[in-house]
Amino acid sequence: MKRHPVRAFAPGRVNLIGEHTDYNDGLCLPFAIELGVTVTAELQDGPEVAAPGLPRDDPYLRGALAELRAAGIDPPGCVLEVTSDLPSGAGLSSSAALCVALTLALCGAAGATPPAPVELARLCSRIENEHAGARTGLLDQLASLLGEEGRAVRLDLRTLESAPVELELGGHVLAVLDSGAPRELAGTGYNERREECRRAAELLGVESLRDASDGAGLPDPLGRRVRHVITENERVDAAVAALEERDPEALGWLLDASHRSLRDDYEVSVPEVERAVAACRDAGALGARIMGGGFGGSVLALFPPAAALPAGAIRVRAGRGARILC
Ligand code: GLA
Repeated sequence: MKRHPVRAFAPGRVNLIGEHTDYNDGLCLPFAIELGVTVTAELQDGPEVAAPGLPRDDPYLRGALAELRAAGIDPPGCVLEVTSDLPSGAGLSSSAALCVALTLALCGAAGATPPAPVELARLCSRIENEHAGARTGLLDQLASLLGEEGRAVRLDLRTLESAPVELELGGHVLAVLDSGAPRELAGTGYNERREECRRAAELLGVESLRDASDGAGLPDPLGRRVRHVITENERVDAAVAALEERDPEALGWLLDASHRSLRDDYEVSVPEVERAVAACRDAGALGARIMGGGFGGSVLALFPPAAALPAGAIRVRAGRGARILC
């Protein structure tokens, strides 16, 4: 009997605000976008799981199989087809989307109920951290899994609680613009910032920077790193309030404030990113900021209704979260 293929989709994400807070037990406000990765699993008779479209010995596939088996889910032999309409390397979390789509498709092929979102997000982040060698927090995976149409999600990375927030912008438009910066620095810089935060927490005698109230006494640049984390957490709740009050001007102001903090205190911007931010402002953006890990990737900007977006910008809307399609 020929069994039907299983297909799973996982979206990329945009983080509205709350950057470099996830690994500090902080707050983030991402949303899943409509673009993403689709994985189709065609069941085979043999035991092998093959993915002709991925490099041989692909760490994501290896990692997904290892982590699922460790969770007691044993995918059957199948051939996986991976397709994506998500630009990779543009800071829209294509690798998190790949991990989520792979694991959902493999769960479906195994006839197993996928782990609950937080557990699956953790499993997927282990694929990236332990198998693919890319350190990440939980922001990207949770955003992909918890997406809802027309809504962002406020994540508290300390309690792992999530709450949907209506993304009603009164005709204003959110768009991303790829800075095109080469990403060599990204991994190194990201890991350096994480280490600085760990060190700052240690010096302050707190478990994580979520508990920090002032880093002013710390040696430079640690004090500035702490100030970014504290103020960025505050900006997440201010952005939630701005959305609730239907106040796009306030949201734009917060995006700008986040950018200044990421540029000056957290120091994760590069000239290409500054140019992309300037291009958005020149096109009339109410606010624009670097998004994601930094040192490249895309910038996010909020435009008034009917603004002409800068060349290359992609409009983003909040779409549904990851799911098994059939
Ligand atoms: C990358 C990581 C996320 C998060 C952001 C910064 O996108 O994958 O976990 O740390 O950087 O907010």
